[in-house]
Amino acid sequence: MNFNLTEEHIMIRDAARDFAKTELLPGVIERDNKQEFPDELVKKMGELGFLGIMVDPKYGGSGMDTFSYVLIMEELSKVDASASVIVSVNNSLVCFGIQKYGTEKQKQKYLTKLATGEFIGAFCLSEPEAGSDATSQKTTAIDMGDYYLLNGTKNWITNGGRSDVYLVIAQTDRDKGHKGINAFIVEKGMQGFDIGPKEDKLGIRGSDTHTLQFNDVKVPKENRIGEDGFGFKFAMKTLSGGRIGIAAQALGIASGAYELSLQYSKERKAFGTEIYNHQSIAFKLADMYTDISAARHLVMKAAWDKDQGNNYDLSSAMAKLYASKVAMEHTVEAVQIHGGNGFVKEYHVERLMRDAKITQIYEGTSEIQKIVISRSILRN
Ligand code: CAA
Repeated sequence: MNFNLTEEHIMIRDAARDFAKTELLPGVIERDNKQEFPDELVKKMGELGFLGIMVDPKYGGSGMDTFSYVLIMEELSKVDASASVIVSVNNSLVCFGIQKYGTEKQKQKYLTKLATGEFIGAFCLSEPEAGSDATSQKTTAIDMGDYYLLNGTKNWITNGGRSDVYLVIAQTDRDKGHKGINAFIVEKGMQGFDIGPKEDKLGIRGSDTHTLQFNDVKVPKENRIGEDGFGFKFAMKTLSGGRIGIAAQALGIASGAYELSLQYSKERKAFGTEIYNHQSIAFKLADMYTDISAARHLVMKAAWDKDQGNNYDLSSAMAKLYASKVAMEHTVEAVQIHGGNGFVKEYHVERLMRDAKITQIYEGTSEIQKIVISRSILRN
């Protein structure tokens, strides 16, 4: 394994770092307050190639590796996890799903626009009664010959109100269990497809999360992804890659909180000296640095596995489980280091703490990651 960054990786990381500082940082508190989706910034991220990072250039993508993807995700997430989740879902769930499993026609029609940011995508698996238990889909898609009739409700859909393309997982034959599940490309504006109100969330408030309703939506047969019955495996494979993106997001949130805490502890004085001179603070920084470094190695290992063509179900679950735990624990510590200032919005760490929580929930809760990990180690 070689985790040394190439010159190209360093350039990509620095471009993302620069974008985060100059473009994301100035309005991040206001967007969080107002739950405002960063439309203009998404456009700019598209121009920089951040929305189709791993997509083949022949479909308009940047043709980069997963290593580059996690570097970009970490840098964006240090500053604005709402912006980075838009990037993550578009790249590792929607673009990946279509590039890997879609037909040439689907790639030409959708991927070329998703990769440049002309289109935004959403991944619709969760339902009111099927979040972790993904095989229990209540949304149905009945085969009507040349189209499927889609009915049901999807919940907590990231990019839900802003997307042009929705990958929707639905049950086509209940008797077949997970083999009776399919994935479909649904377009915004299809008759019978309604977008419900935006969720008022604890964190990642600048991202756009909605409930979606499908009432007799006619989805052309050519919009099904893969062979009949492939939908559950499609969702699982796609989510494994998605977990690398969310692990990198958690890593970024933790690193952002660490960097702010380090800087603060060098500026803030108490009992006659800068607070980092107190062991109570220095030890917290040492723990943060160590745990973040360990999380970074797990994230890089998962990205490396994917780039090498290895199975990455286990490494992505471990990376997400650990990085999200580190993000949650150390953003709480970052608020503690900042004292009263940590409780105030302008110091950013309270937002990072609120944003950290979702990384333990979406794309599989921590408990789901433990199911994936334990099954994997017990079967081998
Ligand atoms: N790759 C390929 N196939 C896989 C797979 C994978 N990673 N994981 C499972 N499968 C296959 C199994 O081999 C099995 O196939 P066979 O019967 O042919 O052997 C089939 O799928 C069923 O697998 P399981 O028996 O393991 O299924 P399960 O019902 O026990 O569920 C689970 C497994 C891991 C708990 C799964 O349901 C899961 O991951 N749940 C969490 C779902 C999730 O992450 N939801 C988040 C929503 S998306 C989101 O958050 C997006 C967003 O907006 C940010």
